[in-house]
Amino acid sequence: MKIFLDTADLVEIRRAADANLIDGITTNPSLVSQVAGDRDPKEIYKEICEVVDGPVSAEVVATDKDTMVAEARKLAALHDNIVVKLPLTEDGLKACRAVGTEGIRTNVTLCFSVSQALLAAKAGATFVSPFVGRIDDISGEGMQLIHQIRQVYDNYGYDTEILAASLRHPMHVVESMLIGADCATMPPKVLWQLAKHPLTDKGLDAFLEDWDKLGATI
Ligand code: G3P
Repeated sequence: MKIFLDTADLVEIRRAADANLIDGITTNPSLVSQVAGDRDPKEIYKEICEVVDGPVSAEVVATDKDTMVAEARKLAALHDNIVVKLPLTEDGLKACRAVGTEGIRTNVTLCFSVSQALLAAKAGATFVSPFVGRIDDISGEGMQLIHQIRQVYDNYGYDTEILAASLRHPMHVVESMLIGADCATMPPKVLWQLAKHPLTDKGLDAFLEDWDKLGATI
């Protein structure tokens, strides 16, 4: 499964990229606004693409098809790694189809139902982003959505990749893997939580304490 980092924070992106742990980046307008300050977001996207050799999702902010297509072309022209994120609306689906025929890769986002995911696949989306955590937030079963999309895509042979998004904790990532999501995007905190285990820390402390008794070096 591919691991994407869900952030526009270059410090965090470099930290994960240095460890060769990530396959790509997802951003959204909220994440970009948290870090941009007075920087042009397009420069941030380009910088991210220089750091990460994989898909980097950058989202349109228009809501009508024609302006979405124009924004998608501008974003895609920034760097070969750019994948254009489009909202799962009627206009977003039409824009997805239109830019897909030009060879622009797409990530159809804000997906909350199987029927929406079906239309994303029909529109030729490269990725679809079901938002697990936001469904859980309203007392739904977010992970059930990943399960159902996997089944529908497998039943009919759609090759749109399922990019499990809005993942809030390690078990969301583990469950996405077990279901067979193609990719999982997560905040940096969740990525590093994946590495943590109290028995690892306890075991390491004991090993180092015992080694210290030797007074030896390697
Ligand atoms: O990739 C989508 C993600 O950024 C949404 O996450 O935690 O804001 O629901 P969240």
